[in-house]
Amino acid sequence: MAVGIFDSGLGGLTVLDAVSKRLPDVPFVYFGDNQHAPYGVRDADDVYNLTTAAVERMWAAGCDLVILACNTASAAALRRMQENWVPQDKRVLGVFVPLIEALTERSWGDNSPPREVEVKHVALFATPATVASRAFQRELAFRAIGVDVEAQACGGVVDAIEDGDMILAEALVRSHVDALKRKMPDPQAAILGCTHYPIMHETFQDALGTDVKVYSQANLVAESLADYLERHPKMIGTGQENLFLTTGDVRKVSDRATQFLRRQITFEAA
Ligand code: SIN
Repeated sequence: MAVGIFDSGLGGLTVLDAVSKRLPDVPFVYFGDNQHAPYGVRDADDVYNLTTAAVERMWAAGCDLVILACNTASAAALRRMQENWVPQDKRVLGVFVPLIEALTERSWGDNSPPREVEVKHVALFATPATVASRAFQRELAFRAIGVDVEAQACGGVVDAIEDGDMILAEALVRSHVDALKRKMPDPQAAILGCTHYPIMHETFQDALGTDVKVYSQANLVAESLADYLERHPKMIGTGQENLFLTTGDVRKVSDRATQFLRRQITFEAA
């Protein structure tokens, strides 16, 4: 049995990297739906259909537990999947809850009623589909009151990163931060609500200023997964090789992933 990590493309490797550092003995299957990336410009039904197809493939590869590292899938498909589709013996988890628990200084799984928290002005940077879903605000409202969230849809950034055009990605990030600041001049915290954005963490921090605490998900998700597996040890697998699956061009995706992680990564066709 392995833990599945799903992303629309390569950005989820940021989560995979953190998870494999935190849980080096847990085997995983990474699935990148590169053929259909980016998800962030797709409608919710499309994201749901693509995500469920990918998760079924991961179940077939031996993953009873799948993490949707893709924020767009977590935002636009996860709730519907959990309510109507995931069988009782499987788990599909998203990436918003660990982030919001960190932002609101809650411990894992603290479901007490929403309360006042220190941070009052939060900037959310995410894909157009994630922003449109308002899933972040919905999950936050379960846990905190009195927090003002300003969301900025960061069109183009995922494409630029997937294409390896980091100059364009940096210019786009700076212009999206400027646009956000025109709507909210004094954010205290910024959420990088897309798997790809941690790769641009320094640019976000530089453009936002050092006073703004920038949250990115990889380490928070890894920590939360470690907690979850401690409580659900049956979900931990052994004796399975790590596996990288893609719906895209195997060679191209392997090359880009090897560049990203600075170690040899070999994908297989999903
Ligand atoms: C995308 O597929 O557009 C980006 C992945 C994400 O939303 O985290």
